[in-house]
Amino acid sequence: MFSLRCTVRNCDQLLERRDAGLFCATGHHFDRSKGGYWNLTQPQDKKSLDPGDSDEAVMARHRWLERGHAKGLIDAIRPWLEIDARPDRAKESCVNLRTLDLGCGEGTFGPALFGDAPSDYCGIDLSRRAIKLAARRWPEATWVLANADRVLPVADDSIGRVVSLFGRRPTREIARVLTSNGVCVVAVPGEEDLIELRERVQNQGYRRSRWQQVVEAMKADGLELVAHRLWVHQVELDVDEISDALAMTYRAVRKSQQLLLASVDSTTVTLAADLMVFRPTE
Ligand SMILES: C[S@@+](CC[C@H](N)C(=O)[O-])C[C@H]1O[C@@H](n2cnc3c(N)ncnc32)[C@H](O)[C@@H]1O
Ligand SMILES: [Zn+2]
Repeated sequence: MFSLRCTVRNCDQLLERRDAGLFCATGHHFDRSKGGYWNLTQPQDKKSLDPGDSDEAVMARHRWLERGHAKGLIDAIRPWLEIDARPDRAKESCVNLRTLDLGCGEGTFGPALFGDAPSDYCGIDLSRRAIKLAARRWPEATWVLANADRVLPVADDSIGRVVSLFGRRPTREIARVLTSNGVCVVAVPGEEDLIELRERVQNQGYRRSRWQQVVEAMKADGLELVAHRLWVHQVELDVDEISDALAMTYRAVRKSQQLLLASVDSTTVTLAADLMVFRPTE
């Protein structure tokens, strides 16, 4: 199985699988939940100000993805997964790349992008609802309930590919776990994402470009941008889809504002994402 590290503060030992649990050499242990994921959260994670997405947001994104709205995005990301990110020693021994997905959500992207290598994929999320859905969808992979903003539960220099699709970006930890030749693939909402809906509910629908800020933050921790592309797509959405699109993306959009949209039967909406690839600087 995917090699994980103990999350007890200052422990950092590798976990070994025995019977139904994971054990570290110091004696800490973690059970596998009935839902098929590993719960590596620590007491301090429960006090987190941002304990992962709400069940409502997770279910809205789940319905959205079930309708196939991420298909084009998945196709846009796929070529980047061909980038050879294996360390030289692994090339010789044909070792596969291990992928860590930070804020994997309800698990649509994992099997769509890495379906042929379940033992080399691990998805991390802090929402129990999300990780349960993910583990049910693709039980062969490794799913972890953990706070990706604190410490990533894997050894230094052990991951060939970190993925963060509208997820978490703990830059210092990403730099720690990536192999020297590894890649980090990031997606963030583009400036025009859902602009037609935001214009209606927020009156002016301000545009905000986030990707340059991501580039700066990654750079500060030694991760350099090697590729960027903007993915844009237009879709016709019905009223249920409009409500899901807002609920999964903009926590700030209150119910009362969503009601403003109830009068809209269907509308054409822009979906946009900035996609980036980073590598550790030499
Ligand atoms: C916008 S969703 C994206 C999910 C998935 N990558 C996708 O594109 O469908 C962001 C995800 O990050 C998770 N999340 C938020 N804070 C987190 C944290 N501190 N650690 C791990 N996951 C977190 C949320 O629960 C949510 O599932
Ligand atoms: Zn331990």
